[in-house]
Amino acid sequence: MNKLIKNACIMTMDADNTIIENGYIGIEAGLITYVSADFPATFMPHMIIDAKEKIVMPGLVNAHTHTPMILLRNYADDLPLQQWLFDKIFPMEDKLTAEDAYWACQLSMMEMLKSGVTCFSDMYFYMEEVAKAVNKAGMRSNLSRGLQCFNDDFDVMTDERLLENEQLFKDWHGEANGRIKVSVGPHALYTCVPEYLKASVELAKRLETGIHIHVSETQKERDECIEKYGKTPVKHLADLGVFEVNTLAAHCVHVSDEDLDILKQHHVNVVYNPGSNLKLGSGIAPVTKMIERGINVALATDGAASNNNLNMFEEIHLAALISKGVLEDPTAITAEKALQMATLNGAKALGNDRETGSIKVGMKADLIIVSKKSPHFYPRNDITANLVYATQASDVETVLVEGQILMDKGDFKTIDTEEVLYHIDKISKRLFEVS
Ligand code: NI
Repeated sequence: MNKLIKNACIMTMDADNTIIENGYIGIEAGLITYVSADFPATFMPHMIIDAKEKIVMPGLVNAHTHTPMILLRNYADDLPLQQWLFDKIFPMEDKLTAEDAYWACQLSMMEMLKSGVTCFSDMYFYMEEVAKAVNKAGMRSNLSRGLQCFNDDFDVMTDERLLENEQLFKDWHGEANGRIKVSVGPHALYTCVPEYLKASVELAKRLETGIHIHVSETQKERDECIEKYGKTPVKHLADLGVFEVNTLAAHCVHVSDEDLDILKQHHVNVVYNPGSNLKLGSGIAPVTKMIERGINVALATDGAASNNNLNMFEEIHLAALISKGVLEDPTAITAEKALQMATLNGAKALGNDRETGSIKVGMKADLIIVSKKSPHFYPRNDITANLVYATQASDVETVLVEGQILMDKGDFKTIDTEEVLYHIDKISKRLFEVS
């Protein structure tokens, strides 16, 4: 169905950050076929969306999350990462079923869509169910099976997790008109022995896909890595060949200048998770230094068990503020840079930047429409600053992926809200044994 968006304030997020006032966007077969301040005289739309008093911008990319973990939201809080993960999260995860993951992913997508997310990168288990949920909901996603192995006596030919990741790739990579991609997901260096990390990279190379991994999230991880292997986590992973494929490195909080040079040299994509890092007391990633070096920095919420929400506008706000405070420098991360992290950089990190992340002719129509009617949009000076410092997730009115409307004025078009909430209630009663 051809659509025409009219009267829009268009944040193109192109290289020049061009903003078109009262502009028009034409959408045909899921692609943007027209962008201009002028009315398209020859375009024949089936549907017209009036974006008067609204901003149209590229959909946000949540570059690192664990959607099924939404079931563990508010279950274990105010604990350091290692204690949170090993004492609380891992035991509870043993109770989860494949069906739980299917419903939980839908709940996560509902929350993400409400904050303008069109694409996310997910790492967990029961990913076949997650893929089914993504396919049905119409979002764009990069999925990886979270891989862990604590001893060396695994057999690469029979290791259940590696086989599951490979099967996920065979079943889903490039499916749903290319909306779904699959990477290999070794969880972290402290949950994967070196030989297993090597096996993960070999699998990624054989499948010609990327790696999604947690890197240098805490001081403890860094100290233990140095003690055990005599080098920093970044050097350890580089020496194991992990960065020889396109890598999505979540966190990179505790990194030296030398580590940053290695990340830059290998074109590693760093995913900044300010909310999760703050909540777990993990520290603050040196994002300004990364950007200065030309490292691609994307933005993410992490899972809802460690954030505890999936609101990307909150992350944009945090990303812009934190470095200013820490460095006592208001220019440390500009509003424009923060917005780029959540759009273009995220698309680039997932290898989607030729298709999404900015608004221009030929790109996929992954767009969000943000109302600027609320009091916090007045006076209307700098729209970029407003999106970063004042906009709320609740200002997001409409979300389109490949031209299909997935959410409009709070209504989900591809997800049955009542059905999802019914199942989530049922699952949480079972998990937490509430009668
Ligand atoms: Ni994570």
